[in-house]
Amino acid sequence: MTNKLTIICVDDERNVLLMLRNQLMHFFSDSKIEIAESGNEALEVIEEILSNGGDVALVIADQIMPKMKGDEFLIELHHRHPQILKVMLTGQANVEDIGNVVNRGNLYRFISKPWNETDLRLTVAEALRRYEQEKQLVKHQLALEQTNLELIELNANLERAYVELQSVSKLKDEFLAMMSHELRTPFNSILGVSECLLEEIYGQINPRQKEAISIIESSGNHLLKLINDILYFSKLTTDLVKLDIESVAIVDLCNSSLDFVKQQALKKQIQITLNISTDIEFFEADPLRMRQVLINLLNNAIKFTPTGGNVSLDVKTDQAPSKFVSSSNATKTSDSLEQVADNQEVLNVNSWIYFAITDTGLGIAPSDHNRLFQPFLQIDSGLNRNYEGIGIGLAIVKQIVERHNGYVELSSQFGQGSCFTVSIPLRS
Ligand SMILES: Nc1ncnc2c1ncn2[C@@H]1O[C@H](COP(=O)(O)OP(=O)(O)OP(=O)(O)O)[C@@H](O)[C@H]1O
Ligand SMILES: [Mg+2]
Repeated sequence: MTNKLTIICVDDERNVLLMLRNQLMHFFSDSKIEIAESGNEALEVIEEILSNGGDVALVIADQIMPKMKGDEFLIELHHRHPQILKVMLTGQANVEDIGNVVNRGNLYRFISKPWNETDLRLTVAEALRRYEQEKQLVKHQLALEQTNLELIELNANLERAYVELQSVSKLKDEFLAMMSHELRTPFNSILGVSECLLEEIYGQINPRQKEAISIIESSGNHLLKLINDILYFSKLTTDLVKLDIESVAIVDLCNSSLDFVKQQALKKQIQITLNISTDIEFFEADPLRMRQVLINLLNNAIKFTPTGGNVSLDVKTDQAPSKFVSSSNATKTSDSLEQVADNQEVLNVNSWIYFAITDTGLGIAPSDHNRLFQPFLQIDSGLNRNYEGIGIGLAIVKQIVERHNGYVELSSQFGQGSCFTVSIPLRS
């Protein structure tokens, strides 16, 4: 196999052929020059070279030859090897013959005999360059086709992976649904029986037994809450939870949420205040999920505020978002304000309702603001942690609020307190 390009000269007059070869050898020492005295011989030579891995770039053929004429030969050559460039070299060819080979044999150039050396040199040099270019083009095309094939295969793989993922995701959903049932049922028995024991339905128990059963009950309750939270969060992220949007009474929503945390606040002598200053009484939302949002935020506020502190829940409605906190030091969960603007447009929203939960607790350093909304993330997460919980409350809040096309904002002074604001667009 050689990298040299081969030029074939075809003429029935041997002296012309030799002269042509000598000139070409002189000008194109990098190429191999072969000769043939007839079209048939040339075809044989070409096949031989190609079958040995050679590279025939150009054929220069005379027109007037016995048996096979130049145009016939070049047309036949074109059928067999279209990539080889063809030049016709003759003094007597008529226009018809040339037209014939131009149209049917893709003739590259015509040089009239006797030829001018410079003309020959330039034409051949240009032909060789052209041949190399086309070869490169074909190579690139092949590479492109190869890439294309690979892409098609990759795509097919992706599709397969996607289908697999979907079936895994379905399995996960089914598993979760099953688990939530299977885990809750025994817990209900444990908690139910503990309660009956404590209420001495099965007979009297002594104070030490009572204390032990109380521990079973409270630990059981705690574990049940954890299981519920984790399962609930998984369901939220797998889209299993559908919102039940209805008209929600704002006062009822706030009061029922506060009811859930009153005990906890009382224990720590934390004062809770509720301020509702809205121009509407109802708004469209999923009442159970919204209550979950407020409870999670109120729970945190009380949990992370030292004894004797204050927690407030303020509710407002307004035209534009972000009225409770200055946006300079606030962090939004919904990635950007544009998204808020988009929501505003999509829903044709021109007013918002805000729920702000403010506490006088630990506060949160700015670097932690965004991280907190990730599941299972807690600022102080060591084993010696002072606070209960697994770090899923805010992740649930974020999911639910975003399902309502809203966002959560956090503004906090480290050491002085925090304010979480939930903004929900009002549907018109
Ligand atoms: N009001 C707050 N003040 C100070 N830190 C807070 C406040 N709310 C949340 N955090 C910090 O954010 C972390 C994550 O809160 P999140 O509600 O997700 O989890 P958690 O309360 O630790 O556990 P869970 O809510 O699952 O019972 C908390 O552990 C705490 O470090
Ligand atoms: Mg929490």
